[in-house]
Amino acid sequence: MTIAICPGSFDPVTNGHLDIIQRAAEIFDQVIVAVGHNPGKTPLFTVEERMALLERVIGEARLTNVRVDHFHGLQVEYARAQKAQVIVKGLRALSDFEYEFQMALTNKKLAPEIETVFMMTANEYSFLSSSMVKEIVLFGGNPDGLVPPVVLTALHEKMEKRGRING
Ligand code: PNS
Repeated sequence: MTIAICPGSFDPVTNGHLDIIQRAAEIFDQVIVAVGHNPGKTPLFTVEERMALLERVIGEARLTNVRVDHFHGLQVEYARAQKAQVIVKGLRALSDFEYEFQMALTNKKLAPEIETVFMMTANEYSFLSSSMVKEIVLFGGNPDGLVPPVVLTALHEKMEKRGRING
C-alpha cells in the first residue's frame, strides 16, 4: 500500500490545492493532507481552522482515501511516522521550482527512502495562491471559482472579525 503525504500551510485551502489532492488520491492508496507550521509565515487561520476547512472540502469532494492531519517539525520525520513513502507537491510556475527543488533535495538527504513527487498544477490555477486569495478578499474583491464556497464564507467571516478588532 502506498501512502502519500501532501504537506502545506493551506491558509486557506484553494481550488488549486484541491486539484492536486484529488489527483493524488487517484494515484496513491492513501493520502494524508498534512498542515505544517511554516515559521516564515503568519497564518490568517489557526491550524484547527485550516484542518476543519480541509475536512469539509475533502468530504464534499467525497475523497474517501484522504485524511487530514497536522504536524510540527520536519515533514520527512512526519512522513516516516505515518509510514508514507511519498511526499506530493504541486508545482505552479517556474518561481516555485527553485524552492521546491531545494526542499526535495534536502528531504532526500535527510530521508533517502522517501520520494518527492511533483504534480504540475492545472492550467487554470497556475497563478493561484492562498496569499493572493487573502489579498483579493481583504480589498473587497471576489475570488469566486478560486476557493470552495465554504472557504469563501470562512474568509469573509475572518476578515469581518479582523475589521471589527482593528476598528
Ligand atoms: O504551503 P507552504 O507554506 O509551502 O508549506 C510549507 C510547509 C509548512 C509544509 C513546509 O515549510 C514544512 O514542511 N516545514 C517543516 C520543516 C521542513 O520539513 N522543511 C523542509 C526540509 S528543510
